[in-house]
Amino acid sequence: MGSRSPNHLGDSLRKIRAGREPARKTGGVWGFSGEGFDRMTMPEGSEAATKREIHSLPSTINEDQIKRVISVTGNLPPVPHVAAKMMELVGKEDTSVRDLQKVISADPALTARILKMANSVFYSFDQKISTLSHAIVVLGFRAVQSMAIAASSRSLFVKKGAQFGLKEKLLWEHSIGVAMGCRQVARTVGYEAEETAFIVGLLHDIGKAVLNQVVPKKYGKIVEKVYNEGRSFADVETEMLGFDHSHIGALIAQKWNFDWEMVETIAYHHRPEAEEGASTLAAILAVSNHICKRMGVGLEKAPENDQLAESWAARTLGLEEGALVEIQGILEGVLEEEKKLYDM
Ligand SMILES: [Fe+2]
Ligand SMILES: [Fe+2]
Repeated sequence: MGSRSPNHLGDSLRKIRAGREPARKTGGVWGFSGEGFDRMTMPEGSEAATKREIHSLPSTINEDQIKRVISVTGNLPPVPHVAAKMMELVGKEDTSVRDLQKVISADPALTARILKMANSVFYSFDQKISTLSHAIVVLGFRAVQSMAIAASSRSLFVKKGAQFGLKEKLLWEHSIGVAMGCRQVARTVGYEAEETAFIVGLLHDIGKAVLNQVVPKKYGKIVEKVYNEGRSFADVETEMLGFDHSHIGALIAQKWNFDWEMVETIAYHHRPEAEEGASTLAAILAVSNHICKRMGVGLEKAPENDQLAESWAARTLGLEEGALVEIQGILEGVLEEEKKLYDM
């Protein structure tokens, strides 16, 4: 499970990272700090810091594609405020339930969501959980953090003040579905970093949301082509823009200071088997993404007889068709219930 050496990039990437201070000290849980793009911190002298200092990116992305991304999207979005606060707190060793409670309770909608989540079927606790502190204790810091990140990420799917239309709803539904699917696949295969898998699932297609915001008309055409011609997003986007949403996703993951494995997993999510030393995380994402397509969660559908069990990802995880069907069954039940938490 190694990772390849990163790509060295110069001026164009620096433009994306404009305003960012040089790496200084340690970051948060997933290797990112909680303060977002402008005040990002990294462990001094660490391998990750070195990679960032040389402006690294997965080798799927070349200089030309970055220039195109910048010319289309301009500045990439910063970490949403609540998510940034949560990352900061969970990344600190001495964070208490009370600290977390303070940040969450300032957002009544998030508080209500977390309480609902704690009482949802996914967790199936015997007793009713009615206080925020109890919810944090039973769900755990990481799950509460994922919830906050998921809830605040919704804003990235729609322009301020604009309507959450059908396209946005389907993109959002797919992200939440894949995030929950990743958590379930992780649970099934005994992959410990369930919440990392959740976040990767949540943000793997964030590039679609960004494109839909910055070039809505063009993206409408792309969606139409995908839908009518049964082609993949990556295919149509490359044809019309010269890059695809996985490039934007990887740039955002990098900008938000996610750890390298997460950046690469997002960068390669359409052809994980092409990634040298592809990780378990990449396989989890691929399986969950595919199961969601089987379920019709989002805009793309999997073909019948899709032979998922024969794919690199399912074989890597040792998941046969029976196990995949079982995961899908669990996900269908959970998603129906959890949809309510995410305004879907
Ligand atoms: Fe994708
Ligand atoms: Fe996807």
